Amino acid sequence: MNIAILTSGGDSSGMNAAIKKFVEYSYLQNYTPYFVYDGLEGLIDGKIKKASYKDVAGIIYKGGTIIRSSRSKRWYEKSYRKKAFDNLKKHNIDALIILGGDGSFRALDVFYDEFKMPFMGIPATIDNDIPLNEYTIGVDTALNVIRHAIDNIRDTASSFSRAFVIETMGRECGYLTLTSAIANGAEMCLIPEIEYNLDNLKKRFINEIKNGRSYFIAVMAEGLKISQYIKEWFEKELNIESRITILGHIQRGGSPTVIERLRAAEFIKIAIDNINTPNKIITFYKDKFILRDLKEILNSKYELDKAMIELAKPLMGI
Ligand code: F6P
Repeated sequence: MNIAILTSGGDSSGMNAAIKKFVEYSYLQNYTPYFVYDGLEGLIDGKIKKASYKDVAGIIYKGGTIIRSSRSKRWYEKSYRKKAFDNLKKHNIDALIILGGDGSFRALDVFYDEFKMPFMGIPATIDNDIPLNEYTIGVDTALNVIRHAIDNIRDTASSFSRAFVIETMGRECGYLTLTSAIANGAEMCLIPEIEYNLDNLKKRFINEIKNGRSYFIAVMAEGLKISQYIKEWFEKELNIESRITILGHIQRGGSPTVIERLRAAEFIKIAIDNINTPNKIITFYKDKFILRDLKEILNSKYELDKAMIELAKPLMGI
């Protein structure tokens, strides 16, 4: 059996650990592993190559993806998907493993409906926004990058008695923001999923300033697009000098944490062990790996952990 792997959408730390395991475990099971370079774009252009041990030597600790990634606009056109299918047939590929987010899974859903190309999806994105799933490859490294950044910002925020508005990634999902705000002792946390109350926050902050608080860490989700507004809010409403730090793409890089490397290995083993029951997404839910139908994922809505929201309510003024 020939199995190909590809990485799609935003890259995330731990993808390389998964790619290494994919090659080694495929050969152990007497399957032949193939790489598709440049994600769905590469699939359209036929960038498919048999993988060797040499390709994956020394990559486990590296961020990014050695087979590269893309966001493909051409994929929306059937003629290009047909080209991609012909390329897979040319190399006698029997199944695909895709590392990516729900956009990438959706892309393969269409592909299966049209060409019956079997696939297995592994959640990999820093956003951690896949429904019925609590962990995506890359999120733990991103959280640690954010932790390190906030630790550094706190040093200078305290020296200058300033408010720092720190913007985290996550697209429309507030997971990175919510988790980071709690884990890093932020005073404020605003995310798209929960309505916040600035008047209540103002009252609380005025009291805290009277009681000796001299600087603020405010963590904002990029999806809200309000970092500039909140910076000015601190200056106008509380008379505190303020600065913005947009963390940006540093959150997507860095050496993967131990958790990422372990889970990446487990995801791949499960994907290959179940390659004959395709069109599934492997989810990590309540500390267990669970194979789910893609349609079940696509028809569900992502929800943030209620206990985490409860913890963060004071940081949202509610
Ligand atoms: O989906 C991952 C992600 O990093 C989001 O958090 C962010 O909004 C987006 O990708 C950025 O995309 P790009 O790398 O194309 O600028």
